[in-house]
Amino acid sequence: MAVTEQAVLDALRAVQDPDLRRDIVSLGFVKAVEVGPGGEVAFTVELTTPACPVKEQLQAECEAAVAALPGVTGVEVTMTAQVRTRQTQAEDLIPGVKQCIAIASGKGGVGKSTVTVNLAVALAQKGARVGLMDADVYGPSIPLMMGVPEERPLTRDSKIVPIERFGVAMMSLGFLLEPGQAVLWRGPMVAGTVKQLLADVIWGDLDYLLVDLPPGTGDAPMSLAQLVPLTGVVIVTTPHNVAADIAGKAAALFRRLNTSVLGVVENMARFSCPNCGYETRVFAGTTGAELATQLGAPYLGSIPLDEAVGEASDRGIPALIAHPERPQARAFVEVAGQLAAQASVLSMSRAATTTAEFTPA
Ligand SMILES: Nc1ncnc2c1ncn2[C@@H]1O[C@H](COP(=O)(O)OP(=O)(O)O)[C@@H](O)[C@H]1O
Ligand SMILES: [Mg+2]
Repeated sequence: MAVTEQAVLDALRAVQDPDLRRDIVSLGFVKAVEVGPGGEVAFTVELTTPACPVKEQLQAECEAAVAALPGVTGVEVTMTAQVRTRQTQAEDLIPGVKQCIAIASGKGGVGKSTVTVNLAVALAQKGARVGLMDADVYGPSIPLMMGVPEERPLTRDSKIVPIERFGVAMMSLGFLLEPGQAVLWRGPMVAGTVKQLLADVIWGDLDYLLVDLPPGTGDAPMSLAQLVPLTGVVIVTTPHNVAADIAGKAAALFRRLNTSVLGVVENMARFSCPNCGYETRVFAGTTGAELATQLGAPYLGSIPLDEAVGEASDRGIPALIAHPERPQARAFVEVAGQLAAQASVLSMSRAATTTAEFTPA
């Protein structure tokens, strides 16, 4: 029996994207179906992110679904990705940036910058084009954490060229200040600086721009959310009731500014003993999962407490690169995958409100 393109598509309707909760054919992911004379089938599946956490699973399901068709002698699936675009606005300050994701926390010291840096590297390692903007004007720490504190950016056509490291394009106020120099900030200056970090930097075409915000609900998060349409905000928390409480306030602020909460990341909650591997929860406060439930937001995962994270970061090497074998590295990759998946879900559901082509289940 001759295999038809239609039969291949019908078979692939059995394959569901678990995050978007629809089959990959009606989502428009299946492209370039070819059927050879001997029953060899080839096609491409275009996902919404190269960091898709279920890429291998989907590929295997596609292969199995088509291989089961009578007459099929071979299946070749090519997996690609095209990141969807956030809702942009007229004269968008960063028109080439598909997804702009802010990373916020209630209080300082919860590991927000550490998490941001490692998520950026994890997304870049999956093949995404990633930018990292340090909007923590009070304590820019990205240059140190990425091992480039001495670098000074070049300008081109009176715009700033980001500094590249570990596959990530970065910009931070830290690159522009003298070492040890402190700035006495007033509200309008913060707004102006955040705007410059967006508009005066050659960000170019990026899949993801991650923005490391100062802790709390001050001028920087307000300005950012008002200057560009964000995909959403990620809240980093530690399992302390104070941290969770203020994190909840930060989330409420973003929602008032019409910015969705993409998810909650818990940091430093679990410790796994390097000798015996036994895992303990170090603190007894509100967990990341509990906070996510309270906020009605997705829980993206937990990064274990690991002295190697802090040590690598102090040497200017993201933990994911310095210690790819340790449990925290796997955790960063998992959280990055969940984050990318949630960004896709949000942009697809937003597109639906204007074009009515997608209804989240
Ligand atoms: N998972 C972790 N395990 C061990 N140390 C961590 C972890 N996450 C962050 N740290 C350390 O905690 C301190 C604060 O982290 P940082 O990212 O600067 O926090 P924030 O940006 O929220 O102020 C740093 O010394 C950092 O190396
Ligand atoms: Mg920080």
